[in-house]
Amino acid sequence: MGVTIQVEGLTKRFGSMTAVDAIDFAMEEHEFFSLVGPSGCGKTTTLRCVAGLETADEGRIGIKGTTVYASNERVDVPTHERSIGMVFQNYAVWPHMSVYHNIAYPLRLKNAGKADQQRRVGHVLEMLGMEQLGERKPSQLSGGQQQRVALGRALVGEPDVLLLDEPLSNLDAKLREHMRVELKRIQRDTGIPILYVTHDQLEALAMSDRIAVMNEGRIHQVASPVEIYERPATKFVLDFIGSVNYLPGEVLSATGETVTLRVAGGATLTLPRPGFVPDAREVLLAVRPEDMVLGQSVTGSDLHAKVELRSFLGNLCEYRLRYQGHELRVQTEKDELVPEGSDVVIGVRRGYLLESTAMQDSLARVS
Ligand SMILES: Nc1ncnc2c1ncn2[C@@H]1O[C@H](COP(=O)(O)OP(=O)(O)OP(=O)(O)O)[C@@H](O)[C@H]1O
Ligand SMILES: [Mg+2]
Repeated sequence: MGVTIQVEGLTKRFGSMTAVDAIDFAMEEHEFFSLVGPSGCGKTTTLRCVAGLETADEGRIGIKGTTVYASNERVDVPTHERSIGMVFQNYAVWPHMSVYHNIAYPLRLKNAGKADQQRRVGHVLEMLGMEQLGERKPSQLSGGQQQRVALGRALVGEPDVLLLDEPLSNLDAKLREHMRVELKRIQRDTGIPILYVTHDQLEALAMSDRIAVMNEGRIHQVASPVEIYERPATKFVLDFIGSVNYLPGEVLSATGETVTLRVAGGATLTLPRPGFVPDAREVLLAVRPEDMVLGQSVTGSDLHAKVELRSFLGNLCEYRLRYQGHELRVQTEKDELVPEGSDVVIGVRRGYLLESTAMQDSLARVS
């Protein structure tokens, strides 16, 4: 498989602030690849460097085998000569132009012939399921349809790659979910590689073939959604993707299959051996809410807690529990409703281990 975008040692500073800190990643052909991380971590800056809207300080960027930026070779191909389509958060569609002319706009800029324009715009309209709407003005469209027009405009020039920066964040929750599926479908149908930026971990998990998790200008892990969730490389990834409960404890013994811990409050837990077991005796046990079973004993791994708060979430129920001064968050199926104030047993099915000194260290190893 070919590489679509290759980024090596990319660094971008604004004054004394390093927004992007020597990052590396390579996108495969046909891949839906997401950069995900909290606000200010450098996602947009990375995308703007790939687009050529920002000039990096160091590193190299290749698009489909062509070097478009290389600091040491003084290569910096201007944006309009990079084969990319872009949609940003505040996608601007021209209000005075019809859907057809909005989508045709990039072709007109390139002086494409009328027949060629018609063929290509027609194809894009069909792909977007908007054949009937070509004559409409954007004001006569829903938010999701306007978004599709912006996407159509990015696609019409048949770029080598699409760069999308939080393109769904202006849409309401329901529409956003719908557009996620639409985008994924369009990507499957066209095979066009997408470099997608979002701070929404669920969006990234749902849409991506692979995800790069970023924090403070650095990439912590590049892997498939399942791998990112199941085997987070660092504490930051564990925290950022999904949620997690922490309990201090000490390792009593470990075998090839299990580890036995004494956690704060004195309970002893025997759990499946996680991918990483620190050398230190003092550890932090990290458990995902769905790996705690409420009101059900797991042999040898029970905590006794009190239900403080219960939130009904429709398909799930979330509980805040108090265990020996620690707050725990547990999710269960909705048919196991337990009243607030109850004393319950919590079974722990599995967890991750960190060195106990690693609480503040987002780069601390997890698996
Ligand atoms: N033109 C600029 N001048 C100075 N600092 C900038 C500039 N653009 C971005 N920054 C800073 O660089 C860092 C990274 O910004 P960036 O926009 O890449 O973050 P982001 O991950 O896209 O965040 P968000 O999720 O909020 O969009 C931030 O600290 C930001 O303030
Ligand atoms: Mg941004």
